[in-house]
Amino acid sequence: MGPRLSFAVAFIFILGACGENSKTPVGGNGDPSRGRQVYLAQCTACHNSDPAKDGPLGPAIKGSSRELLEARLLRGAYPSGYTPKRNTSVMKPMPPLEASIPDLAAFLR
Ligand code: HEC
Repeated sequence: MGPRLSFAVAFIFILGACGENSKTPVGGNGDPSRGRQVYLAQCTACHNSDPAKDGPLGPAIKGSSRELLEARLLRGAYPSGYTPKRNTSVMKPMPPLEASIPDLAAFLR
């Protein structure tokens, strides 16, 4: 698990670095196919590989807004006024994924 996890994290940093050099401006629309890769690598231990369905631990998250992803992944929180699908807090913040949030949002849209 250790080496695999480090590999996954390194991979995400590489993706993030590419994003910065691409023509898409920071805060742009994101790339759904990159988002899918991140999703399959980082989220499907708990969420379903089809984000429209509940997974083994996490709820369906298709349609999650960028604001919701930011709150959840960076702060382990929810946007104000948002009613969470679950009132548990099993999912820990994953701040290294910050650069991938636009891609994840594009994939989940
Ligand atoms: C360790 C298991 C786990 C991993 C890994 C995980 N999640 Fe979750 N996620 C959950 C669980 C469980 C919930 C329900 C709330 C809670 O208990 O934290 C959740 C909730 C969410 C929510 C809020 C859903 C809502 O509308 O209330 C979003 C968005 C989300 N996850 C996105 C992601 C993304 C994107 C990834 C990958 C980058 C990810 N999660 C990785 C377990 C996980």
